[in-house]
Amino acid sequence: MAARSLKVAADKIHLLKTALKGAGCPSMQAFVTQHGNEPGYSTVKNFFGGKPIDRLNFIELSERLGLNPEGIAAVEADGKTEAGFEESPFVVGPPITKPRQFFGRERELRRLFGLIKRLPLQNAAIIGARRSGKTSLLLYLMNICTTPGAELRPGQRNDWLSQPERYCWVYVDFQDAKVQSRVGLMSCLLEGMGLAWRDGAEPSLEQFMDVVSRELRRPTVVLMDEVGAAMSRCAELDDGFWESLRALATTQTNGLLGFVLATAENPVELAKGTGHSSPFFNIFGYSAQLGPLTEDEAEDLMGAVEPVIPAEEMAWIYEKSLGWPVVLQTLVREYLMAQEELEIEWRQEAEAQIKDYSHLLERGV
Ligand SMILES: Nc1ncnc2c1ncn2[C@@H]1O[C@H](COP(=O)(O)OP(=O)(O)OP(=O)(O)O)[C@@H](O)[C@H]1O
Ligand SMILES: [Mg+2]
Repeated sequence: MAARSLKVAADKIHLLKTALKGAGCPSMQAFVTQHGNEPGYSTVKNFFGGKPIDRLNFIELSERLGLNPEGIAAVEADGKTEAGFEESPFVVGPPITKPRQFFGRERELRRLFGLIKRLPLQNAAIIGARRSGKTSLLLYLMNICTTPGAELRPGQRNDWLSQPERYCWVYVDFQDAKVQSRVGLMSCLLEGMGLAWRDGAEPSLEQFMDVVSRELRRPTVVLMDEVGAAMSRCAELDDGFWESLRALATTQTNGLLGFVLATAENPVELAKGTGHSSPFFNIFGYSAQLGPLTEDEAEDLMGAVEPVIPAEEMAWIYEKSLGWPVVLQTLVREYLMAQEELEIEWRQEAEAQIKDYSHLLERGV
């Protein structure tokens, strides 16, 4: 049976961009306008972004660009991802791991990449309430520059670093029991940095410091998630340990080592509150307080959803969410599920589903 929807193969997307220029259109919007807004902008955007669109629209758009639809269509269609599973149009709960499902945070990204794109790498802290999007931001930072354009949305930047392949990223989540001890954490850091350590042997703090300061050759960013858990629960990660990490970052690695922390509280306050005196937490020259997405960013998130959400519903969702991404995602999910079940009244249930986020919504912008 012929597929109901089709998408452009990832390795053919560049042909579309060349064809667009060949058709004398400086932008996708110009292309849409040239053809009387039929099909609309969001369909055309999905087409250029390699996302599935209705089969007839796919054929029409290919032909308008002078391309053979069969020659550019991906073998798999109907919204199936590489592994044959459909990609959910919303993600509520787990952090965002696929860069194309991440929206906004442009300002924070500019600042964070500004600190790590040159040597010495500088340290930053991302401070945000529960469920505000801290982990998603850390993972995006780590993955965006090595994600090929074909796996991103049209216009999504991945050129923040000039030599992304030279960077090494180590993600540490202190909720994971494995890294709550000194040895566990040092082993995880050594492994992530690709530094050799004798199999089975447990490094002492001195040995760890020695190996890292002697052998670290690549710019390395250590992302520490839930650092509050490390400070309040992990007795082995004491002031002496944090001071050693500070020494590595500040004087012993020629500026090749930087830390980005994610926490619910300001790291200096956190250190005080948990009885730490370590100056480690004073090296975070930049801290980003995560707030809601801007209205434009929220619209991007909602505008990428299939099937298209009508403008009036989008306006209501934005108003209720105040732009908090987890609330936007929850409301989008509720809207789509109601559509599938042909329910017209969906707002009351949707409002009940966002009650868990009152700590974000009451705080506002
Ligand atoms: N930039 C984003 N784009 C789209 N959705 C996002 C984004 N950031 C967060 N979300 C949404 O918010 C939810 C929570 O994100 P995340 O897990 O990153 O937050 P967190 O601050 O790390 O939460 P916790 O305090 O529980 O660790 C995700 O499931 C997703 O729905
Ligand atoms: Mg998190």
